[in-house]
Amino acid sequence: MSMEPRCVMYVFSGTGNTMLVAEEYRRYLGDKTEIYEIISSFNKLPPPDDYDAVGIGYPVHAFNAPLIVRRFASSLHAGRPMKLFLFHTGGEGLALNDSSSFSIREVLGKEFHIISERHYVMPYNMIFRHSDEMVKHMITYMRRLVPIHAESIKAGQSEKMPLMPFRHMISILFRIEWLYATLQGPHMHAETTCTSCGLCERNCPMGNIQMENGHPVFGRNCALCVRCSFNCPVNAISIGILNGWKVNGRYQIDRIMNDDSTPSKIPIEKLSILYRIYYKNVTK
Ligand SMILES: Cc1cc2nc3c(=O)[nH]c(=O)nc-3n(C[C@H](O)[C@H](O)[C@H](O)COP(=O)(O)O)c2cc1C
Ligand code: SF4
Ligand code: SF4
Repeated sequence: MSMEPRCVMYVFSGTGNTMLVAEEYRRYLGDKTEIYEIISSFNKLPPPDDYDAVGIGYPVHAFNAPLIVRRFASSLHAGRPMKLFLFHTGGEGLALNDSSSFSIREVLGKEFHIISERHYVMPYNMIFRHSDEMVKHMITYMRRLVPIHAESIKAGQSEKMPLMPFRHMISILFRIEWLYATLQGPHMHAETTCTSCGLCERNCPMGNIQMENGHPVFGRNCALCVRCSFNCPVNAISIGILNGWKVNGRYQIDRIMNDDSTPSKIPIEKLSILYRIYYKNVTK
């Protein structure tokens, strides 16, 4: 492969974390790298044949890729053997998150050879909201790690993709989330504080929201990406029984990264156990 391959990255991102990582890859993979967002009408995306390498990026949802990403992967075809790299983001660094790629590996065409896979811990959009300090720590490490992976992609290095039967089994069990997303979609609703701005309808990657009489109505085609709720300017969207777990509102990453009073790293021994092992491993 030439020093600057022409790469294409297909990316699904609910609240922006995975897209942020994809943009970081583009900085290091070079100007010829193109990013396309995976949305429900993915048949409109350009085929990978014109590129030297293909990347797929997605957020981990219940130890799997979101169903739309699996469907996209199964629809992806190339007329010749191609190298493919994977990257995913998650709210924590559990090794179990690497199980998520099985849902893609199972359906990818034989012409794609997966050369490598990386997990990035990013500020959670579910369960708990991180402190500015933790956000800066995560982004700092992500920005240190992406160029290292990008260099190995540019060099065409191929890593051994291990078989992990136990993790594979766990990922299969958690695919119940795919069904859950469709069942709970219609239980999402906007509170009376909704200002009828229509942002959620315009932003939904699944085309799952329709404004009716100035009010958003949610259908079954939900990916539980929480983009609608995360970005609603008045925090009006309830996401059903998971509502108590959602993180309200965007993290102000630019502000946090530019704030010199926030340290850029937290000593590993001061991190919670959920993160300690991940950061120990990635800094080896
Ligand atoms: C429904 C749902 C399930 C999730 N499951 C996991 C998980 O199993 N492991 C994890 O580390 N993070 C999980 N997360 C957190 C997201 O993966 C994380 O916030 C990710 O960076 C979001 O990326 P995005 O902004 O590109 O959508 C989950 C988030 C949602 C909304
Ligand atoms: S983004 Fe929020 S305020 Fe705007 S239409 Fe949707 S629910 Fe209403
Ligand atoms: S309805 Fe909301 S959570 Fe569901 S796919 Fe659309 S933006 Fe994502």
